[in-house]
Amino acid sequence: MEQANRNLALDLVRVTEAAAMASGRWLGKGQRKAGDKAAVDAMRFSFNSLDIDGTIIIGEGEKDKAPMLYNGEKVGTGKGPKVDVAVDPVEGTNLLALGRPNAISVVGLAPQGSMYDPGPSYYMQKLVVPEEAKEVIDLDAPVADNLKKIARALGKDVDDLVVFVLDKPRHAQLIEEIRKAGARIQLHTDGDVAGSLMAVDPTSEVDVMMGTGGTPEGVLSACAIKALGGEMLCRLDPQKEEEKKALAEGGYDLKRIFTVDDLIKSDDVFFAATGISGGTFLRGVKYTGKGAITHSLVIRGKTGTIRRIEAEHNWEKLMKISPIKYD
Ligand code: FBP
Repeated sequence: MEQANRNLALDLVRVTEAAAMASGRWLGKGQRKAGDKAAVDAMRFSFNSLDIDGTIIIGEGEKDKAPMLYNGEKVGTGKGPKVDVAVDPVEGTNLLALGRPNAISVVGLAPQGSMYDPGPSYYMQKLVVPEEAKEVIDLDAPVADNLKKIARALGKDVDDLVVFVLDKPRHAQLIEEIRKAGARIQLHTDGDVAGSLMAVDPTSEVDVMMGTGGTPEGVLSACAIKALGGEMLCRLDPQKEEEKKALAEGGYDLKRIFTVDDLIKSDDVFFAATGISGGTFLRGVKYTGKGAITHSLVIRGKTGTIRRIEAEHNWEKLMKISPIKYD
């Protein structure tokens, strides 16, 4: 991974910037697939200039269902370090299509063999907390007990806490229990990668992320939490019969509790995210007529360096070399 140590963290952000600039054109247009495709095309093109020998572990699904960036696809020039790659070209496709906050483009990289492969698992239960509360949480404990312990660890009262929860019917009881315990709630229709990262970010008003969301999103979040600090406990939580059956057939342990270190087994991990629609987590793409301004988060696990990058993109120059039409 020596080459990765030198330059990967900063190269990676070009991939999420490209996806954000291409898909941002679809903000609020009600077309999920078109927004996603724009991001996938741009991301794929950008990956090809990256000196990595990457294999997608977490992509857009199986090859026949996803023409590009499918699980198992090779990305990069093939010349650099061998890495596992997790992508979510648009995390929050509905958020983008409906013009709602916190649609982001996300990529994570880790040395080959170190990234958890979710296989047929779509959903996992997650509990994400900041560094100060990582030792006190227990996925099997009642919600009220966890909240009490988290609040104490953060030096707060339970009613000071804000819990990020996906607004899904499966969370009706969870929401009731959080309210009963006295904590406050932010309900979001989608986007639990942003929710997880907000929970571990001391500058965000969110203190905790609770509930069941995507397994791939859990692995992507883990790439960032490795460097940001904090903890995410999770457990496979199949929601549909088909998923339950596939996990049973594959011998998956539905009782096993995963930590961030189980999902990403190396500290030599990289993460980049660029805002698409804007919101509390990352500002969205601003088109200026002559170009665009993007805001990204770039994280390198080994050093723990977290960079927030504002980039100005110039159409006149970019369009001379890019086959992706951003303007
Ligand atoms: P997509 O961008 O792939 O649609 O994912 C959005 C998302 O809200 C994730 O953030 C979350 O983990 C997952 O979907 C939850 O799935 P569901 O909407 O099926 O409950």
